[in-house]
Amino acid sequence: MLPRPLETEPLSGSAIADRLRALDAWLSAHAPLWEPRPFVTWRPAWWGDAPELAAWVQTVDEGVLQALEDHLGANVEVPERLASLAEQAAALTDLTPLARAQVAPRGRGVKSRKGEQVGGFLAATEHALRGGDAVVVEWCAGRGHLGRTLSERLEREALLLERDASLCAPARGAAERPRVRHVCVDVLDETVHHALPDRGAFVALHACGRLTDRMLDVALAHGASAIAAAPCCAHRLFGAPRYAPRSAIGRASALSLDASALRLSVLDEASVSPRERARRQREHWLRVAVDLLARGATGLDEHFSFPSVSAEQIDLSLVDFVDWVQRTHGLPVPAGWDPDQVGAAATEQLRVIRAGAIVRRVARRPLELWLALDRAQSLVEAGLEVSVGTFCARTATPRNILIVGRAA
Ligand SMILES: C[S@@+](CC[C@H](N)C(=O)[O-])C[C@H]1O[C@@H](n2cnc3c(N)ncnc32)[C@H](O)[C@@H]1O
Repeated sequence: MLPRPLETEPLSGSAIADRLRALDAWLSAHAPLWEPRPFVTWRPAWWGDAPELAAWVQTVDEGVLQALEDHLGANVEVPERLASLAEQAAALTDLTPLARAQVAPRGRGVKSRKGEQVGGFLAATEHALRGGDAVVVEWCAGRGHLGRTLSERLEREALLLERDASLCAPARGAAERPRVRHVCVDVLDETVHHALPDRGAFVALHACGRLTDRMLDVALAHGASAIAAAPCCAHRLFGAPRYAPRSAIGRASALSLDASALRLSVLDEASVSPRERARRQREHWLRVAVDLLARGATGLDEHFSFPSVSAEQIDLSLVDFVDWVQRTHGLPVPAGWDPDQVGAAATEQLRVIRAGAIVRRVARRPLELWLALDRAQSLVEAGLEVSVGTFCARTATPRNILIVGRAA
């Protein structure tokens, strides 16, 4: 698959379907590379097909690994295959901002990153929301910064829907506005329909996973005049076994995205403190040591999975941690195991796992954009005029893709 030329305009019209098809072909072709989770599958099948890349994964040094973990585009030498995949992924996920300039949100109580998100959302959607008197419906509104800002800017009524009662009161310092109603409701519940106006302008800033799809369904059912959604937390399926593709192209795709595949789409270059990074590394190291013992005891190349652990358990010595997993989760342990030897092997195995995760991460943004474009294309199929682009910098939020649709 050749990389496409970089975009100069937000995606709209047939460009949405074209890009979705291109992403679908690329993700399907490279599925063996990104579907297996390195923590679970230690020797993925692709190692046989890409020996140069497999050798790199098994031998890359710690400095290069850390640089790539900090920033996937770090200026370090990587195998040609990895560089080429990263280049293709970058071209396929190129997006332009939906608006050139942001609109500053008003009101105290809006934190700066949230302020940037709201300002960007506003600038990117104003053209679609302007005109008419549609009530603005904010879906999974949290404190409702977006809905309040849109209400003021567009001089419209706003209905803010949020499940958490403690968030339905305005943030301290945020002025209450007569045109704004904050309603406590579970948007997955059928009663939500009773609260909704016809032909509203539906907006959702980071409604998690299936909650975004629920908004698209409900908004279309209520004849929405406009719909704008910036999805996040794709893996939150609320009981569904996998992502249900919405567009004809998505439904015809060979991709089958369960929570584990969806989680990859939101795995970002973490800006965590060195302390937090060290703790995570220690937890991973302990888990890999446990896995080594289980694989050694059973002779099976199978991952030993157990639920999350507390900070206290992460501080245990390897021997005590293994003892705890044995008692609480039935870990099989070979007799007379040597903690020094297992600890050293876990360090080595963890490095290989981290390198495998770097390779897998090449598919992260393509997957995220595939999901956004499947939703966008479903709105095109429903007859809306649709654009897709970014609404803020990745520093304001990594979930910066926005779908904007307007009834034709
Ligand atoms: C990631 S936050 C986004 C909040 C807000 N839109 C923002 O950007 O600040 C997601 C919000 O969805 C709300 N939520 C989750 N499940 C919900 C449901 N079933 N019905 C209504 N709101 C829900 C959560 O309480 C939370 O406030």
